[in-house]
Amino acid sequence: MRTEQPKVIRLQDYQAPAYLIDETHLTFELFEDRTLVHAQLVMRRNPASEGAALPPLTLHGQELQLQALALDDRPLGGGDYQLSDESLTLQPTSAAFVIDSTVLIHPENNTALEGLYKSGKMFCTQCEAEGFRKITYYLDRPDVMSRFTTTVSAERQRYPVLLSNGNPIASGEEEDGRHWVTWEDPFRKPAYLFALVAGDLWALEDSFVTASGREVALRIYVEPENLDKCQHAMGSLKKAMRWDEEAYGREYDLDIFMIVAVNDFNMGAMENKGLNIFNSSAVLARAETATDAAHQRVEAIVAHEYFHNWSGNRVTCRDWFQLSLKEGFTVLRDSQFSADMNSPTVKRIEDVAYLRTHQFAEDAGPMAHSVRPESYMEISNFYTLTIYEKGAEVVRMIQTLLGAEGFRKGSDLYFERHDGQAVTCDDFVRAMEDANGVDLTQFKRWYSQAGTPRLQVSEDYDASARRYRLTFRQNCPATPQQAEKLPFVIPLALGLLDGRGRELPLRLEGEAQAVSGTRVLALTEAEQSFVFVDVDTRPLPSLLRGFSAPVKLEFPYSRDQLLFLMQHDSDGFNRWEAGQQLAVQVLQELIGQHRAGEALRLDPRLLDALRAVLADAALDPAMVAEVLSLPSEAYLTEISEVADVDAIHAAREFARKAIAEALYQPLWQRYSANRELSRQTAYVAEAAHFARRALQNIALSYLMLSERAEVLEATVEQFRSSDNMTERLNALAVLVNSPFEAERDAALADFAEQFRDDPLVMDQWFSVQAGNTRPGGLERVQALMRHPAFTLKNPNKVRALIGAFANQNLVNFHQGDGSGYRFLADQVITLNALNPQIAARLLAPLTRWRKYDERRQALLKAELERILASGELSSDVYEVVSKSLA
Ligand code: ARG
Ligand code: ZN
Repeated sequence: MRTEQPKVIRLQDYQAPAYLIDETHLTFELFEDRTLVHAQLVMRRNPASEGAALPPLTLHGQELQLQALALDDRPLGGGDYQLSDESLTLQPTSAAFVIDSTVLIHPENNTALEGLYKSGKMFCTQCEAEGFRKITYYLDRPDVMSRFTTTVSAERQRYPVLLSNGNPIASGEEEDGRHWVTWEDPFRKPAYLFALVAGDLWALEDSFVTASGREVALRIYVEPENLDKCQHAMGSLKKAMRWDEEAYGREYDLDIFMIVAVNDFNMGAMENKGLNIFNSSAVLARAETATDAAHQRVEAIVAHEYFHNWSGNRVTCRDWFQLSLKEGFTVLRDSQFSADMNSPTVKRIEDVAYLRTHQFAEDAGPMAHSVRPESYMEISNFYTLTIYEKGAEVVRMIQTLLGAEGFRKGSDLYFERHDGQAVTCDDFVRAMEDANGVDLTQFKRWYSQAGTPRLQVSEDYDASARRYRLTFRQNCPATPQQAEKLPFVIPLALGLLDGRGRELPLRLEGEAQAVSGTRVLALTEAEQSFVFVDVDTRPLPSLLRGFSAPVKLEFPYSRDQLLFLMQHDSDGFNRWEAGQQLAVQVLQELIGQHRAGEALRLDPRLLDALRAVLADAALDPAMVAEVLSLPSEAYLTEISEVADVDAIHAAREFARKAIAEALYQPLWQRYSANRELSRQTAYVAEAAHFARRALQNIALSYLMLSERAEVLEATVEQFRSSDNMTERLNALAVLVNSPFEAERDAALADFAEQFRDDPLVMDQWFSVQAGNTRPGGLERVQALMRHPAFTLKNPNKVRALIGAFANQNLVNFHQGDGSGYRFLADQVITLNALNPQIAARLLAPLTRWRKYDERRQALLKAELERILASGELSSDVYEVVSKSLA
């Protein structure tokens, strides 16, 4: 907490560290009311740093009580060093020296969940980005890499398991029932990858033999009651290890790999070397308690953290401006893995829908920043959709431009060249350039320029000359600190269809030969034309196939053309995309009618399109489910100049109801066929089963809109008798959003009774109710905050209830009187003191005020002002609020 304004950290001010830490020897003495940390740092001057005289040494440190300090075994007194709230400074007297410090800290009172803290009965750590400085005085920056040994001592009874990075090398007993274990990590690492865990944990054990034949012990540590929920994560881990060997040539490097599940965790998970610490929601999954989506999330996050062992740990970031170097690349890697494990097209659809809804909104808001930001106040605020998801898109575009083989050559060179180093995004791109003999200078604007480019496309067909011209105009809106943007390199994958939906051979003017199927054009100018020759009939372009670049594409497709693409495009992603664009056009028309006070009339072509998709037995049921999903209210908001929350909700609900009525028969048929299959087969967490359950569930949610008795009966039956959480939770959500109050209340009570001891399941129970769009949403959420299972101290609970309400229940959150805004601001103010990272994230919906009408703008800004005036703000909350009001 601070009284003065946090200072701005700038990329341009980066300086190499004046000193290095070769060895770090830590000893932790854990007690119930305090922890003592002894640190011995074997240091020397950085040979790369300039100047003759030895500069002062400033170590980072926050909320530490210094007990003792020595330089080369010489105890230092008060006059020998300076302490501030954030640092300790002393003057070394030789180029190589050893510092010994002892500090007292209070993990038992740490509610920020950064540094060393307690989650329930266990101790654990979260050091990325700058949490290690809350553990001991240190050079807490990623370009200082050190070899660590860590000794942990604690009461044996309460903490039989004591873990840290690397391999255990010694252990022993002390008097008074205490014991200790020493761990040694042979790999140099920055402090943000340090981890410690102590608790009464049980492990699911397994092993993996690497490509070169080394055996690795695998362990997933959990509290005893969760041991039966680790199989899926273990299976995912082994698949990820094999996949990384095959897809990227990356082998695991230690003899042991551990995952620990903790209940109180700010993010999804953390890739600490050899000891990944996970939010329990990202590890635990079994049929009875976790949905298909949760199973897929576990698979993806386990893989993501594992992949960091190379993209993040072996090769790490020079400074935090380079965060996307590891996060963007690793998100791409985990998405490729998930695509390979499941359906590539469905995975791409999910990723693009997520990016377009949430990252595009970030890019259009006050916190917009480039993939490699130029400045920040609080780095925790920069673990964003832009760094992660857009960062992944940027690396994906490099792959699209270089081809799969060229990209692999580039990644091989990157890992080989920079193994053991802390590097920059420029180094990554240079490896790609050097391995392929290409120049990516202009491409790198994707790293430095924020904002989502618009790409306007127009066509011109000359039948007599058999020439077809496509003209592309790109521009990117201004973002904070960046008024003008230069043209991006946009890889545009496209195909041309003839009147019967066949792919036309593609020959550009001046080329000798035609290419069949998809080809990639590299757009580099603000305006640029491409002329295809030998085009016999007027083609229909299929543009930006697979969403080959994170841009907003504009092409004046008619609804009939979109229908045609939905049926004929050879690119599965673009077939879905055509359906989405059709739905967007139809919904926007309804929104207009609602705003004009007219009766709503749904274009029947949307119904015809969906009817055809439902009838297509050859189509992957997961694709059918995706096509049936109308663009979300959040996406419709994002693409609106000024979003009319009520009109958007009314229009979308009207369309859903019309679909339910018009397609009742085929929906019922697909629902019951799949429900029957679910009844007959035991739950399997595999793509084909995810797919049919997805269709079953979306069909049921449509069917309930008819409010027919047979649907109510089927829903109650599914809720009561299904053997898995996917079906049960869907039935519950359908009941919650239905008008059948008695059945809804009975189901909610039943569910809470059955799962009250399982916090992750109770999170889902909170979320389902937070998302209920019927009137009275705020009151329901406020009542749920008083439920015994709710606490503001657990981030998952905050996200499940308050986050879900503000982000997914838009009609209730944006209620015209501003009560939703006031409520959210109150929670932010409370959380600011408890957990600044969570507080800063929770307030994101308030920052989007520019999207709404003037009255709502004023209400939203008033709440931001109130937060700003509420007292001592954390740097996290201060940065987001002040930038939002700027
Ligand atoms: N590196 C972690 C990941 O795998 C996330 C760590 C987030 N830490 C934070 N302070 N926000 O994505
Ligand atoms: Zn990551």
